[in-house]
Amino acid sequence: MELDGRVAVVTGGARGIGKAICARLAARGATLAVVDVLKDTAEATAAEFRAQGIAATAFAANVAVPAEVERMVEEVMTACGRLDILVNNAGITRDGLLIRMQEADWDAVIAVNLKGTFNGIKAVVRPMMKARYGRIVNIASVVGVMGNAGQANYSASKAGVIGLTKTAAKEFASRNITVNAVAPGYIQTEMTDRLSPEARQAFLSLIPLARAGTPEDVAGAVAFFVSPAADYITGQVLHIDGGMVM
Ligand code: NAI
Repeated sequence: MELDGRVAVVTGGARGIGKAICARLAARGATLAVVDVLKDTAEATAAEFRAQGIAATAFAANVAVPAEVERMVEEVMTACGRLDILVNNAGITRDGLLIRMQEADWDAVIAVNLKGTFNGIKAVVRPMMKARYGRIVNIASVVGVMGNAGQANYSASKAGVIGLTKTAAKEFASRNITVNAVAPGYIQTEMTDRLSPEARQAFLSLIPLARAGTPEDVAGAVAFFVSPAADYITGQVLHIDGGMVM
């Protein structure tokens, strides 16, 4: 299979979109490092994969803390001997209108979504540069492109992820490390289960394909970016949003 022998680190891999990405990459042959701040959930997810015959290990790390990310990468290198793919998927929301948004909610979302992505890239590039191979996929969001009332922190973090993706793509291209992003729209997960029925309806009314996306819809695009079919693609942002943003 095309990812046979490849080791993939997926942050926020314990559930939701991250878990679906893990499953898709494993189906193509990758060995999984399931990274999450929720240690027990990550352990349970990795155990679930192992029960299906997939090589998967859980690693606990808060992506917002550089030392924890560096330690996790060292542990992966020790356990697996290599690291080929990084999917920066861990993300949070702390929604509220800008005028009432607390500084702590701004800082928390930027720390996980944007700085966490920076921390992940910084920690993996050395082994990837040495191997002259790396595939990095960052999970952005359509709201990083179009904005969204009530998500100043989140939309800014995801717009930042897009800028970071393009810069990293330029800096690491000469080492055969590609850096791309996917921008999901409204995807049915625990994150969006928290939306009010009105907010859900408002999103659905903007989607030409007239349904919410699934974690598997996003996983397919990530699998494409790390496949040999995408070897000549870097710095791109692919929208997985049923046509919400064109
Ligand atoms: P989710 O909340 O179901 O899963 C997120 C995972 O990330 C959880 O397992 C959580 O424990 C982990 N996580 C959170 N903070 C962490 C940290 N500091 N360090 C390590 N792990 C951490 O969310 P979902 O929906 O699966 O989202 C995954 C990614 O997709 C996020 O980056 C999110 O912003 C993005 N996204 C989701 C959309 C949606 O509609 N669900 C739309 C656009 C983007």
